[in-house]
Amino acid sequence: MEAQRDQWATKLGLILAMAGNAVGLGNFVRFPTQVAQNGGGAFMVPYFIALFFLGIPVMWVEWVAGRYGGKYGHGTLGPTYYLMARESLKPRSAFWFGVISGMLAFSLTVLLNSYYLHLIGWSAAYTYFSAAGSYFGQPTGEFFSNYLSNHGQVMLFWGITVILLAIAVGQGVSKGIERWVKVMMPLLYIFAILMIIYIFTLGSPVDPNWSTIDGFRFIWTPNWSYLGDHLWQVMLAATGQIFFTLSLGMGIIQNYASYLGPKDDVALSGIATVSLNEFAEVVLGGSIAIPLATAYAPKIVPPDVLQQGKTAALEWIGQKFGLGFSYTSLPNVFVSMGDIGRLFGALWFLLLWFAGFTSAIAMYNYLVAMLEEDMHIKRSVGTWVIFLVYLIAGLPVIYINGYMDQVDAWVSFQLTLLAFFDIIIAVYLFKPDNFWRELHEGAWIRVPEFYKWVTLYIAPLLLLIPMIGYFKPLVQTTLEWPARLAIILMWILGAIESYYAIKKKYKEELDKNEVI
Ligand code: PHE
Ligand code: NA
Repeated sequence: MEAQRDQWATKLGLILAMAGNAVGLGNFVRFPTQVAQNGGGAFMVPYFIALFFLGIPVMWVEWVAGRYGGKYGHGTLGPTYYLMARESLKPRSAFWFGVISGMLAFSLTVLLNSYYLHLIGWSAAYTYFSAAGSYFGQPTGEFFSNYLSNHGQVMLFWGITVILLAIAVGQGVSKGIERWVKVMMPLLYIFAILMIIYIFTLGSPVDPNWSTIDGFRFIWTPNWSYLGDHLWQVMLAATGQIFFTLSLGMGIIQNYASYLGPKDDVALSGIATVSLNEFAEVVLGGSIAIPLATAYAPKIVPPDVLQQGKTAALEWIGQKFGLGFSYTSLPNVFVSMGDIGRLFGALWFLLLWFAGFTSAIAMYNYLVAMLEEDMHIKRSVGTWVIFLVYLIAGLPVIYINGYMDQVDAWVSFQLTLLAFFDIIIAVYLFKPDNFWRELHEGAWIRVPEFYKWVTLYIAPLLLLIPMIGYFKPLVQTTLEWPARLAIILMWILGAIESYYAIKKKYKEELDKNEVI
């Protein structure tokens, strides 16, 4: 076994860090968007199916894999998945599974962060703009595009965010990350709850025909006919959301779990992570953007659409929802609230900032761990190396139109691919019985036996939905050369990195190539 690795100092810190990892922009922006675009209550049915039969089992798989890698001093996927695949393959075959997993994880993390960090930066900017009332009395769509075209300002808020991230990660896992999330996560939940209490008192703030209740009804009334008419599309959206929101298929759950002791519980902790994320998604994320949008519908929906009645207006809101919605339509809502809207808007964007920050910290740590463990670069130096990588990777997002959407189309597909690798390597090649035994090593609960079957057969089948679904638009999207170049470059770097990381450490057994 390796020299002493950093470990989580407290159980609470670990759980909050994992919750912070999972709870992100996905909960407060992406979730309401997916609900709104996929028939409201129609979406929730496949959503819960995907949660129980895909999200929960894959979460356990990643916790098990992470703690296993940590035992041997690894917090990155390359060496960890090499070791797991070696349980059924000869070292030289297992080697390639390690290399490819490491490559996928590295390239995903850098590519996703090229824009995720910018989105977090926008939230920082809008926290300030809301508190200062900057967009009050202005057309909010125009205000947003002016903000985006002011590159200096965009980089300023990006910089503030990423420097703080670098500081937190530079301090290490127990002394840095754990301390930061212990402050940020409770605040995040408190902010959300305060906002929801206020939302419950709103009723019909502008027009007796429109209230917050319309929003809740839209989400919570199962819409079977919509589901029947758009079955594939809604199932795809739901399985894709489960994945994204739980931070699966990235390597970062494994990375956090690698800082556990070898006998620390993973079974209950995995479920706790899922529960905290789902509370922050379904209960909190579902009670803010959509109910606000319906309560203030007359302020955001164009008059001619409003005249066509509620269904038409809800449909309009559904189509409008998306990334821009938070930065263009919701600010109109805050403006309509009057003075309290400044406070409310600032709370909303600060909440988004915390949510994004605590997810970004996990991805940042993955890359720093890679430099630290695989390449022996000191954490204090590695942190700033990654800062530069992020800086360069983020530039095309600002300067090249369409780059973000192209990269995002690819990232969505690659996430599902890596989750598929999770199951193939950490369950099938590692051997299902080993997986099941590891899951119960030091466990505080017993997982019902039937979940073993869910993990083996149902989860990979459900996973095929987003794998196929995300592949189609990807083939239809024209990846222009900057996006293509970035993707290929990250693969090459990731492959080289994991190739040497595994080679260096396991040279002897690779040379012998005997079943171990
Ligand atoms: N789970 C995070 C969210 O909900 C997003 C995320 C996905 C972060 C994948 C890292 C990796 O926003
Ligand atoms: Na999430």
